[in-house]
Amino acid sequence: MPGSSIRLGLIVILTLSTFYIIGTKGDSLSDLESTIITHGGQVLRVTDPQYKKAAGLWNPAIQIWPSLILRPAIYDDVALALSTLYSLNAPVRIMGGRHSYGAYCSHEGVVLDSALLKNIIINWQDQTVTMQAGVIWSEVYTALEGSEYVVIGGLCPTVGVVGYTMGGGYNSMYTRSFGLASDNVLSFTVALYNGSITTASSTINPDLYWALRGGGGGNFGYVLEMTHKIHQINATKLPFGQLLFFNVTWVNHGDFTAVLRNWLTFLKEVADVDTRISFDVIVIVAPENSIVMMYGSFNGPQADFNPVFDPWLSKNPKPDFFNMQNYTLTDIIRVVGVPNNPFPTEQRQHIVSAMAINITDAMLDVILEPQPNSTSGVFQVMDIIYLHNSNKDKNTAWPFSDISFDIAPGFVWSKAEDDPLAIDVSERWLQRLRNAAAPTQSIVGAYLNYIDPYLPDWQTMYYRNHWERLREINTKWDPTWYFRFPQGIPPNNQRSNMKTLKNMKMI
Ligand SMILES: Cc1cc2nc3c(=O)[nH]c(=O)nc-3n(C[C@H](O)[C@H](O)[C@H](O)COP(=O)(O)OP(=O)(O)OC[C@H]3O[C@@H](n4cnc5c(N)ncnc54)[C@H](O)[C@@H]3O)c2cc1C
Ligand SMILES: *[C@@H]1O[C@H](CO)[C@@H](O)[C@H](O)[C@H]1NC(C)=O
Ligand SMILES: *[C@@H]1O[C@H](CO)[C@@H](O)[C@H](O)[C@H]1NC(C)=O
Ligand SMILES: *[C@@H]1O[C@H](CO)[C@@H](O)[C@H](O)[C@H]1NC(C)=O
Ligand SMILES: *[C@@H]1O[C@H](CO)[C@@H](O)[C@H](O)[C@H]1NC(C)=O
Ligand SMILES: *[C@@H]1O[C@H](CO)[C@@H](O)[C@H](O)[C@H]1NC(C)=O
Ligand SMILES: *[C@@H]1O[C@H](CO)[C@@H](O)[C@H](O)[C@H]1NC(C)=O
Repeated sequence: MPGSSIRLGLIVILTLSTFYIIGTKGDSLSDLESTIITHGGQVLRVTDPQYKKAAGLWNPAIQIWPSLILRPAIYDDVALALSTLYSLNAPVRIMGGRHSYGAYCSHEGVVLDSALLKNIIINWQDQTVTMQAGVIWSEVYTALEGSEYVVIGGLCPTVGVVGYTMGGGYNSMYTRSFGLASDNVLSFTVALYNGSITTASSTINPDLYWALRGGGGGNFGYVLEMTHKIHQINATKLPFGQLLFFNVTWVNHGDFTAVLRNWLTFLKEVADVDTRISFDVIVIVAPENSIVMMYGSFNGPQADFNPVFDPWLSKNPKPDFFNMQNYTLTDIIRVVGVPNNPFPTEQRQHIVSAMAINITDAMLDVILEPQPNSTSGVFQVMDIIYLHNSNKDKNTAWPFSDISFDIAPGFVWSKAEDDPLAIDVSERWLQRLRNAAAPTQSIVGAYLNYIDPYLPDWQTMYYRNHWERLREINTKWDPTWYFRFPQGIPPNNQRSNMKTLKNMKMI
């Protein structure tokens, strides 16, 4: 019958073309894998002994297992991986230091991991450091140790340099002196979705340069390397880049409101105009062990600090602990107690954040609410980072030059992998803070680097009035929205949600 021979013919054609597609896919992917391996890179699947460690994330509450982890050792192989996977219509995620609170560096498909791109070059003459995508901050600090120079990097030494910088990273000890990490980048080398490698600087592709500085990791392209300014800590007149570090702590004190109000007055009267002063304030209000710990630094000679600091301290309720030290950044990281190596295994954490112009009394009441919520078993650690006048380069995508604080509590629990109750407690706390701030419009956004998958109005909270411009720039650099993830920046021709993902195939 003619009908059945047509049908047979169609089946043969369909079958052949399926073979053909699978054949090319298999070929180009296995070619890619062998090229990566030939050049010293790695290809990891779930059966490889190294896979589990490679896939591990800082946030164990959202552990995801990729189908394939590619670790190219050279830039050309990153470019080849992108052009190959793009032509196969296979989505990728870019993995750096793996500290994304939303785990956006991973997914169930192919992960491009920067772990082998570890070069650091310091140019003392030009006062710059060039870092490849796989570098983490502790490695840069080791390279600078013993010198008087600092780079704007995280107090958590295991954070990756690119993710941190693209979100406008702050160092709570000297960002007020030298700006955000994103203010300090001189140039980026970027691999685009189609495998082209390009430069972004103030003179070359300035739109991309603007967007990469604060537009957030995972958008626009794969940053292969960045060159940052480094800064000489010499205003302190101390050797080895030391600055004055202080710790003032009140334990189980009856009047934390007075302590924090005093602090806010000191900031307004003294610190706001003296950017050598930095503060990071930890508050825990628990039934048995409440604490307000203010640690901070002064990037100048101690003789300039004592005359303003001592009178303020004497106005406070008597602290239970107070000391001052001449510390390097390495010393500070040691006493702040951020672990240098392991990712947490027991503790789960959800972080929320509010970029605030000021802290009003109504907001203080929410900040000082008793925690933990004993019925939920969630433990809250409040972190208030003082950032007045931190944003030194206003011509970047980072949209918060007017804020003074990032109010960023971490909600910690230890039971399940994921805990909807803990998320609920955290998000409802944030809503109470936002309600308290609403009459004064004191909260203007959320910190992109403390990315929160549950934030409802994230487009305006992360990006404010920069959202449309960022979309426009991404339309040029990633027109098909290849680098996509929840809360990513879609180009203008795509909807701002993940529905279009169904056109792509995980491999
Ligand atoms: C314990 C802890 C402490 C922190 N302390 C601070 C702090 O003091 N100050 C501060 O500002 N932030 C801090 N952060 C936030 C941190 O800066 C962000 O989580 C940052 O995004 C982490 O970058 P990463 O490379 O380690 O993470 P990843 O999860 O690997 O990457 C983060 C995002 O960037 C993307 N990305 C990674 N590499 C590249 C690349 N080469 N090109 C393009 N996109 C890339 C990823 O796809 C992902 O979307 C802290 C986080 C944690 C967990
Ligand atoms: C400190 O270092 C900066 C940059 O290297 C330099 O311009 C300045 O003159 C130095 N200041 C002092 C007090 O040495
Ligand atoms: C820091 O060092 C200077 C110079 O040696 C010294 O005068 C000062 O007392 C030291 N400060 C502290 C807090 O140890
Ligand atoms: C500050 O002092 C308190 C009380 O002694 C201590 O628990 C805490 O670890 C100190 N913090 C820093 C950063 O030194
Ligand atoms: C504390 O947790 C319980 C249980 O989830 C919840 O019902 C209650 O609203 C929470 N209270 C606050 C202040 O978050
Ligand atoms: C806080 O900031 C808001 C917004 O700028 C302003 O309207 C308000 O007066 C400020 N309140 C205080 C107490 O400083
Ligand atoms: C890759 O994409 C960029 C941005 O869309 C474009 O400018 C460039 O020409 C493309 N490269 C190739 C080789 O097609």
